[in-house]
Amino acid sequence: MEPERARAVSAATRIPTCVAKAELLTNRTVATDTYLMELKLPVDWPTPEPGQFVSITIEDDWQETQSGETGDALLRRPFCLYGSESRDDCRIIEILFTAVGKVTKRLACLEPGALVDVLGPRGTAFPLLPDCESILIGGGRGIAPFIFTARELRRKSYPFQMLYGARSADQLVALDEFAELTTTITDDGSSGRGGTVIDLLMDCKIDNSPVLLACGPHGMLRAVAQFAAQKKLECWVSLEEVFGCSMGICGGCAVPAKGDDYERYIWACRQGPVVDATRIDWNG
Ligand SMILES: Cc1cc2nc3c(=O)[nH]c(=O)nc-3n(C[C@H](O)[C@H](O)[C@H](O)COP(=O)(O)OP(=O)(O)OC[C@H]3O[C@@H](n4cnc5c(N)ncnc54)[C@H](O)[C@@H]3O)c2cc1C
Ligand code: FES
Repeated sequence: MEPERARAVSAATRIPTCVAKAELLTNRTVATDTYLMELKLPVDWPTPEPGQFVSITIEDDWQETQSGETGDALLRRPFCLYGSESRDDCRIIEILFTAVGKVTKRLACLEPGALVDVLGPRGTAFPLLPDCESILIGGGRGIAPFIFTARELRRKSYPFQMLYGARSADQLVALDEFAELTTTITDDGSSGRGGTVIDLLMDCKIDNSPVLLACGPHGMLRAVAQFAAQKKLECWVSLEEVFGCSMGICGGCAVPAKGDDYERYIWACRQGPVVDATRIDWNG
C-alpha cells in the first residue's frame, strides 16, 4: 500500500487517544439548528488528522438528571473534527454540530467557560494525496470533516474541489472559506440549482482519475460508492453510523462488509470512520 493511502488505515493505531477536559471558548449558531463550537485542550493533546473524530460528554449536573431517566445521555457522542489548531499553550479544536437530540441540544445551550469531556482523537483519517485531485463530497452535516481536510490540502498545495449539498440555503455553512473551490446545491433549489450532491457529482468533469472523499447520510455514500465503482475511481467514505461506546467494545457501530468470517463487519468506531468504499457491502 502506498504511504499516503496507508495513513488512512493506520491513523487509528498510530495516534494515542487522550481523555481531557476542554474549556468551551465559543459556541455560535452558523445555520438553522447548527452550531460551531471552539474548545481549548491541553497543549500536549495529540495532533489530529482530517477525518478523525472525538467523543464527547458534558461535564455538569445535567448528565445526572438525564441519566436517571434515560441512561443513554451518559454515552459519549461522536463528532468529526471541523478544525484543529496548535497554539503556544494549548490546542484549539472546532466542532460543527446539529442539535438533533438530548446531548446535542444540551451542547447548543452551553456557554463559554463550560467544561466538556473530550476523548480523542480517534479513528482513521482521509488520505491526502499529492498526485491527483481530491473531490470532497459533503451531504448535510457531512460537510463537517471537510473544512479541516480542505485546510490541510490547501496548506500542502494539493489539488482539490468540494461538492456540498444541503436541504435548503439556511442549512449551508462555511461557504466563504473555500468559495472558489466549492459548488453547492440544495434539495429545494433555494441556493444554486435544485437537486442533491449526487447530481453535482454526475455533472462533474472527471479528469485524471481523482480520488473521491465523501461524508453524509448512508444512501448518499452508497450512491457515491456506486459512481466510483462505475468510473473505476478510488473512493473513501466516512461512516456516520449511530455509535454506542465509541471505543471498539460494544459492536453497536458494525457495518456489513464484503470480507469473510471476522471481516464480515467493519466496526466503524475502530476500523473507521474513514474506510475504502469497496470494503462496504452496500446492500447488506
Ligand atoms: C464518526 C461520527 C462523526 C459524527 N460527526 C458529527 C458532526 O461532526 N456533527 C454532527 O452534528 N453530528 C455528527 N455525528 C452525529 C452525532 O454523533 C449525533 O447527531 C449525536 O450522537 C446525537 O446525539 P443526541 O444525544 O443529540 O441525539 P439522541 O437523543 O441520541 O438521538 C436523537 C436522534 O438523532 C439520531 N442520531 C443519533 N446519532 C446519529 C448519527 N450518528 N447519525 C444520524 N442520526 C443519529 C437518533 O437516531 C435520533 O433519531 C457524527 C457521528 C459519527 C458516528
Ligand atoms: S460503538 Fe461500540 S464498538 Fe463501535
